[in-house]
Amino acid sequence: MSESQLWDDVDDYFTTHLAPEDEDLTAAVRDSEAAELPHVAVTAPQGKLLHLLAQTQGARTVLEIGTLGGYSTIWLARALPADGRLVSLEYSPRHAEVATRNIARAGLDKIVEVRVGAALDSLPQLADENPAPFDLVFIDADKSNNPHYVEWALKLSRAGSLIIVDNVVRGGRVADAGSTASDVQGTRTAIELIGRHPRLSGTAIQTVGSKGYDGFALARVLA
Ligand SMILES: C[S@@+](CC[C@H](N)C(=O)[O-])C[C@H]1O[C@@H](n2cnc3c(N)ncnc32)[C@H](O)[C@@H]1O
Repeated sequence: MSESQLWDDVDDYFTTHLAPEDEDLTAAVRDSEAAELPHVAVTAPQGKLLHLLAQTQGARTVLEIGTLGGYSTIWLARALPADGRLVSLEYSPRHAEVATRNIARAGLDKIVEVRVGAALDSLPQLADENPAPFDLVFIDADKSNNPHYVEWALKLSRAGSLIIVDNVVRGGRVADAGSTASDVQGTRTAIELIGRHPRLSGTAIQTVGSKGYDGFALARVLA
């Protein structure tokens, strides 16, 4: 058995027992595939982790950067109270359209708002609205802009907020200081920013699973 088959099997086992998908999540995956969206959504166990972290935070407000078909959005939004709010930023109108349908079918359209556009344009607009600080920020868009997204997450959060950055391992490429790939450079700069920022305390965890070898960073806003 190949290593990646083994990772798939273990993810399937964990999904069955710990993070089973209901009809709305299954339909979100099915419709995202039918619309030929890239296969880059979080896995079910990862979605459940986001859900548990949002619950542990007691989150009422979540900011997501990178919606795709709304799969992670649904896991996160389900952790929020009925009067909670999740704003998800997505560049592609096509992805946002699929996500909006998936989110509505899951009955979450009252608390989720998908905003279309480049996140670096949407974020200053959002800030101009003086929103309540976001309790959790999930960063999962174009990796080259990760340092900017971490800075924006800080501006839009409060002491105690949690910032999560997905895909920080990139198959191990994050350790290559000489890499000229913009996704690796963006991720390295974000990790180093988290490490030295006086308002942040963070770590990063390597993972394997049905999405390969990757990982995520977690940072708590201190002040
Ligand atoms: C990895 S996918 C998000 C997956 C999603 N969070 C999930 O797990 O279900 C990244 C998404 O970010 C979007 N994206 C890429 N560049 C962006 C940008 N500059 N601003 C906003 N979204 C962007 C892509 O179109 C894509 O839909």
